[in-house]
Amino acid sequence: MKNIAVIGAGTMGNGIAHTFAQFDYKVQLIDLSENSLKKGIATITKNLDRMIAKGRITEEDKLRTLNNINTCTSLQEGVKYSSLVVEAATENLELKLNIFKDLDKFCPEGAILASNTSSISITQIAAVTSRPEMVIGMHFMNPVPIMKLVEIIKGYNTCQETYDIVNGITEKLNKTPVEVNDYPGFVANRILMPMINEAIETLYNGVAGVQEIDTVMKLGMAHPMGPLQLADFIGLDICLSILNVMYDGFKNPKYAPCPLLVNMVSAGKLGIKSGEGFYDYSGSRRAENVSKQFI
Ligand SMILES: NC(=O)c1ccc[n+]([C@@H]2O[C@H](COP(=O)([O-])OP(=O)(O)OC[C@H]3O[C@@H](n4cnc5c(N)ncnc54)[C@H](O)[C@@H]3O)[C@@H](O)[C@H]2O)c1
Repeated sequence: MKNIAVIGAGTMGNGIAHTFAQFDYKVQLIDLSENSLKKGIATITKNLDRMIAKGRITEEDKLRTLNNINTCTSLQEGVKYSSLVVEAATENLELKLNIFKDLDKFCPEGAILASNTSSISITQIAAVTSRPEMVIGMHFMNPVPIMKLVEIIKGYNTCQETYDIVNGITEKLNKTPVEVNDYPGFVANRILMPMINEAIETLYNGVAGVQEIDTVMKLGMAHPMGPLQLADFIGLDICLSILNVMYDGFKNPKYAPCPLLVNMVSAGKLGIKSGEGFYDYSGSRRAENVSKQFI
């Protein structure tokens, strides 16, 4: 399995392409526009340069990694020789169902179709294909080149062989796969999002301020960043959408998003990407510094 296609060149897609290419897989990076692909490659180049500066890789590793990546705007062309596709397009149910219908049509027989979705059911995605036993979740963490964990999500019909292959590939990427069944939020977000939501509720109830809540969790629980800063980093709209998926999926009020989170998203305060969330990032250097803590 050396030919990989990655759908979407955004935050996660370029990180996934980078990681596969660094471990000598041949990657087709596919996005709707040339501009997104250019931005994706620029980000990969910048992250490789940062790794060189930290002494983690050599200049030669950088060139080899970049040479392993081809870019393409046509899904049909990009996936025709792929044995594994990792879909990392925008988190939207209808969009993903359409992509998987196309993947099923255009990928070679026997190709495994994986999704990096944070919250959409793998079983539901698999159901629009003629190969549900070969559809699986590969939930990478952000930033992909650095973070060790990959949640491997078995849909209702995912077969053991598919799981074993994806598990093996994940280990070849020097990452740690964890087997998870397909229920809303999987494991990572099922535990993380209620914590973030509770931190927002604590703020909303006036128990403590933003800095205070984050300081308690950083110094008291040894978290590398507080939950409110982490929410800004993930994107408040994404946090809201994942909480809603869990709320709808389990019909349990414990996942109901805090009204303050709902209000902030309605007001366009989405965190780093909009310049303001629980913290102010209007000076672009500050936003850059927050991101760098992770890279
Ligand atoms: N951002 C995170 O921290 C994070 C973490 C884990 C998982 N995820 C999941 O990863 C996926 C991607 O998230 P992201 O943050 O990288 O999003 P993003 O918005 O940064 O990038 C999405 C990319 O998909 C492209 N795209 C949209 N429709 C497409 C199509 N039909 N064909 C090809 N490309 C298409 C867009 O042009 C864009 O470049 C989502 O499913 C998200 O839930 C995100």
